[in-house]
Amino acid sequence: MDNRPIGVFDSGVGGLTVLREIRKLLPDENLIYFGDTARVPYGTKSKRTITAFAGQIVEFLLKKNVKLIVAACNTVSSNSLSYLKQHYPIPIIGVIEPGVELALKLTKNRHIGVIGTQSTINSKRYKILLLKSDKKLKISEKACPLFVPIAEEGLAGSAIAEMAIKNYLTKIKAKKIDTLILGCTHYPLLEKPLEKFFSKKVHLVNSGYAVSIIVKQLLSNKGLLNKRSRAGKISLFVSDLNETVLNVVKHTLELKQIRPKIISLD
Ligand code: DGL
Repeated sequence: MDNRPIGVFDSGVGGLTVLREIRKLLPDENLIYFGDTARVPYGTKSKRTITAFAGQIVEFLLKKNVKLIVAACNTVSSNSLSYLKQHYPIPIIGVIEPGVELALKLTKNRHIGVIGTQSTINSKRYKILLLKSDKKLKISEKACPLFVPIAEEGLAGSAIAEMAIKNYLTKIKAKKIDTLILGCTHYPLLEKPLEKFFSKKVHLVNSGYAVSIIVKQLLSNKGLLNKRSRAGKISLFVSDLNETVLNVVKHTLELKQIRPKIISLD
């Protein structure tokens, strides 16, 4: 048994969609979240900068004595995960592999769509991993940068969200994908309008759910689960606090009392 917390981080507060899934599956675990809200978005930055920022966050979480780290950010996972794994002496799980595995299980017609930030799509990480498992897969990718601010503004249920979805995804829909990887932390917040757009005929892969299963397996295999039957504590840290951040915290976690603490990494 190990009651040290699990560290979860993201470029902002979108990664709370991943924390939410971990909390659902592992309610006894203590969780520490860091969102780099002062420097978000990472999706438009270079690999070098993304990796430097992610390294600072891992060092912060190590000081908090975490037993495992989840890089909840797709942009970090696709650009910097191998660097982080090589440089830090702790298990670090990204969101790409779990999402890929789940998509491969779900697809029947072997045509998978991938959406994410520009940097995630440019990295081709999803495509490379998907094709490694099955060379004959058809893959259709699309960067959807406007989805992040739409989710952050709490506009998932608005006509703006519907228009952006139509604009980005009409071509992919016409290609008849049967599975769509939501390759960005914020996109699960748009799950409802996306389901509507695809008339519920396309599997939407929420990597957060897939990650929570891997986290549970890993902790259990290493004997690191916290088996106290007391609800785990959640501590939130951000590098800047503003209305948008509080909005997403409220929408995603449905916890009114929780207020993130501000810390600076540089
Ligand atoms: N967290 C990022 C991701 O999952 C989205 C926001 C950003 O661009 O930093 O790719």
